[in-house]
Amino acid sequence: MRKSLKFQTQYNIMENKVEHIPYNFVKISSNKSLQNSIDFYHTMNKRRSCRYFSDTDIDPKIIENLILTAGTAPSGAHKQPWTFVVIDNKNKTLRKKIRDAAEKEEKLSYESRMTQEWLDALAPLGTNWEKPFLENAPYLIVVLRQRHGINEDGSKIKHYYTSESVGIAVGILISAIHNAGLVTLTHTPSPMNFLKKILNRPDNEIPYVLLPVGYPTEDATVPNLTRKSLKEIMVKF
Ligand SMILES: Cc1cc2nc3c(=O)[nH]c(=O)nc-3n(C[C@H](O)[C@H](O)[C@H](O)COP(=O)(O)O)c2cc1C
Repeated sequence: MRKSLKFQTQYNIMENKVEHIPYNFVKISSNKSLQNSIDFYHTMNKRRSCRYFSDTDIDPKIIENLILTAGTAPSGAHKQPWTFVVIDNKNKTLRKKIRDAAEKEEKLSYESRMTQEWLDALAPLGTNWEKPFLENAPYLIVVLRQRHGINEDGSKIKHYYTSESVGIAVGILISAIHNAGLVTLTHTPSPMNFLKKILNRPDNEIPYVLLPVGYPTEDATVPNLTRKSLKEIMVKF
């Protein structure tokens, strides 16, 4: 007898179910919760995008821990659709190649591709097409979004909500970098396809963001920006 589609679907879901284990949740007091929320806000409120990097080295173990932390992000259907490519600055040839290609795209963007509205929005930040940090910073992390996965036999694995998932992972990565006492810049040289070619990444991976990681130069400055107030960003019912 043929089973109904509804029954078949439920049956398949039950067949593929992973083992469920007790949630090892450690409850803290409401006061401690409140204090943690204040402390974390103050910590995160000190985060700034830095565009001036010294070449001071970082323990490579730290970079591994940062990426492990990013990999704790939630993802659509737990497909973990991300790849993190790490490039240290001992690889001078590769770093110069990346800088040259990024600056070529950025020069074109700043000089002819960006709208006046976009240029006006960027003006207060004082950015331009030059990206010396692509060579100076001790590490670059290139985050790639996997449009789909690939099975060992070459067939495709469907991924879900890849942009949202990778965006969350990058948010966690940026927070982890800040928590480790380091700085980064969310850099999106546009278009970013040159990274896929230079880094020889497979077809299913799309460059998402490039994060230089390191310490600021001693004379590093940041634009004096203010953040929106709670009233401006929260709607309460
Ligand atoms: C998706 C995204 C792309 C960005 N791309 C660039 C970039 O290509 N170059 C750059 O200098 N800053 C870039 N930024 C950094 C923003 O300019 C910066 O976050 C903003 O000015 C606020 O400053 P803050 O990060 O210090 O709070 C980007 C930020 C985001 C979230």
